[in-house]
Amino acid sequence: MENNTDQRSIASSYFNFFKAQLHLLNFFTYALIFSFGLLIGMTLTFCVKDFSFNFQIQNFQDPSLSLNPPPHFSYSPPILLSNISKTSYDHDNQTNISIKQNCPATHNLTSNGLEELLKIPKAMHDMNEDELFWRASLAPMIHKTPFKQTPKVAFMFLTKGPVLLAPLWEKFFKGNEGLYSIYVHPSPSFNETVYNQSLVFHGRRIPSKKVKWGENSMIEAERRLLANALLDFSNQRFVLLSEHCIPLFNFFTIYTYLMKSKQTFVEANDIPGRVGRVRYNRRMCPLIQLSQWRKGAQWFQIDRYLAVRIVSDKPYFSMFKKYCHPRCISDEHYLPTLVSIKFWKRNSNRTLTWVDWSKGGAHPAKFSSKDVTIDFLERLRFGSTCEYNGKTTNVCHLFARKFGTQALDGLLTFAPKLMQFN
Ligand SMILES: *[C@@H]1O[C@H](CO)[C@@H](O)[C@H](O)[C@H]1NC(C)=O
Ligand SMILES: *[C@@H]1O[C@H](CO)[C@@H](O)[C@H](O)[C@H]1NC(C)=O
Ligand SMILES: *[C@@H]1O[C@H](CO)[C@@H](O)[C@H](O)[C@H]1NC(C)=O
Ligand SMILES: *[C@@H]1O[C@H](CO)[C@@H](O)[C@H](O)[C@H]1NC(C)=O
Ligand SMILES: *[C@@H]1O[C@H](CO)[C@@H](O)[C@H](O)[C@H]1NC(C)=O
Ligand SMILES: *[C@@H]1O[C@H](CO)[C@@H](O)[C@H](O)[C@H]1NC(C)=O
Ligand SMILES: *[C@@H]1O[C@H](CO)[C@@H](O)[C@H](O)[C@H]1NC(C)=O
Repeated sequence: MENNTDQRSIASSYFNFFKAQLHLLNFFTYALIFSFGLLIGMTLTFCVKDFSFNFQIQNFQDPSLSLNPPPHFSYSPPILLSNISKTSYDHDNQTNISIKQNCPATHNLTSNGLEELLKIPKAMHDMNEDELFWRASLAPMIHKTPFKQTPKVAFMFLTKGPVLLAPLWEKFFKGNEGLYSIYVHPSPSFNETVYNQSLVFHGRRIPSKKVKWGENSMIEAERRLLANALLDFSNQRFVLLSEHCIPLFNFFTIYTYLMKSKQTFVEANDIPGRVGRVRYNRRMCPLIQLSQWRKGAQWFQIDRYLAVRIVSDKPYFSMFKKYCHPRCISDEHYLPTLVSIKFWKRNSNRTLTWVDWSKGGAHPAKFSSKDVTIDFLERLRFGSTCEYNGKTTNVCHLFARKFGTQALDGLLTFAPKLMQFN
C-alpha cells in the first residue's frame, strides 16, 4: 500500500511537473505569436507611413534632380543653409521643409561663401525681430579675421523724428567714409520725405517700433539698434545717441578714443532712495538682488563683445519686462544692472556723454545758441578728470546733450573750428 501510494505520488508529481512545463511552453508560444503579430503590425504601420511620406516628397520633387531615393528608403535630406526661407521655420511641416531642401539648383557652387556671409543687409531689411536678433547674435570663435577689415564705429541715433543737428554731424563725418556706419531709429510714424534729411543719414533708417519714454519699449529700441548694427561685421564700437546729442571732438579723436579703449562705457551707479534702489522690485530676486541694482544714463559706448551679449540676453530682459513698469524707468536700469552683474570686469561704470542735471527735475538742461560759447564747449571737452586705460585724463566726454535746433547756429559757428573738423 505504502509502496503503491508512493508510486502514485511520484507519478502525480511527475504529472504536475509535466503540466507546469506545458504551461510554460504555452506561455512561450503565446508570447511568440503575440510578438510576431506586433512585429507585423509595426512593420505595416511604418510601411504605410514611409509610403505616404515618400509619396509626398516625390510629388513635389524636381524631376531634373534625379537623385530620388528608392521608394522604401527612408531619406533625410541635408540641410542647405544657402536657402533658408520662412517656411523652413515650420518644423511640423515635413513636406515643406523637404521641398526647400531639395532645391539646391539655384546655389552657385563657385561663389565665395564668405562674401555671402559678410554682405551687409540694407538698413531697411525685411527680417522680423526673431530673425534679426538671431542673426545679430552670431559671433565667430576665431577672433583673427582671414581677410582685411577696417573697424568701424556704429553711430546709432534713437530719435522721435529727424536727426535735429544733422548739419553739424554732416561736417563731423565728412572725409571719414569707411570708418563709420549710421543707424537711425525714428518713430515709425515719422515721414522722412517731408524732411530733407542730409545725405549721411539718407537710407540709414532701420525698421522701428513705437517708443515711450521710461518704458521697456525704450530698451527694445536700444536692443533693436544694436542688433541692426551688429549685422555689419566691421562695426566694432557702438555708440547710442539721441537727436539732441553733439560730438565734442573731431572724428579722428573720437574714433581713436573708442577703438583704443580697453573698457566699455555703460554708466552704472548704486544710488539709494527714490531715483535708485526704490525702483527695484523684490520679485526680481534671486536673478537680480537689491545690492546688484544699478542706475545710469542710457547713452552708452560699447564694444562688439558686449553688444552681442546684450542682444542675446533673455533672462534679464524678461525680468525687466515682467517687473519694471513705468515708474521704474527701465532704460536707466536695465543695461547698468545687466552689465554690472555679468560684464563689470571691463566696464568703466561711466558714460562718455556729458549732460547737465544741475537744474533738477526729470529732464536735464537744454542749451540754445546763446549758451554755446567757446568757453562753454571747452568746459565740456576738458572740464573734468577721469581714468582712461589706467591713466588719469581730462578727456572724459566725447559727446554732449541736450541741444536742439535752437543751438544749431551757435554750434555751426564755433564747433567745426574749435574741434578741428577735417
Ligand atoms: C531660394 O529658393 C527660392 C525658390 O525655392 C529662390 O527663388 C530663391 O532665389 C532662393 N534664394 C537663394 C538665396 O538662393
Ligand atoms: C503642411 O502644409 C500643408 C499646406 O499648407 C497643410 O495642408 C498641412 O496640414 C501641413 N502639415 C502639417 C503637419 O502641419
Ligand atoms: C507648403 O507647401 C504647399 C505645397 O507646395 C504650399 O501650398 C503651402 O503654402 C506651403 N506651406 C507653407 C506654410 O509655406
Ligand atoms: C557664380 O559666382 C561667380 C562669382 O561670384 C560668378 O562669377 C559667376 O558668374 C556665378 N555663376 C552663376 C551661374 O551665377
Ligand atoms: C509723406 O509725406 C509726403 C509729402 O507730404 C506724402 O506724399 C506721403 O504720402 C507721406 N507718406 C506717408 C507714408 O505718410
Ligand atoms: C533736398 O534734397 C534734394 C535731393 O535729395 C537736393 O537736391 C536739395 O538740394 C535738398 N534741399 C535742401 C534744402 O537741402
Ligand atoms: C564698476 O562697478 C562694478 C560693480 O558695481 C564694480 O565691481 C567695479 O569695480 C566697478 N569698476 C570700476 C572701474 O569702477
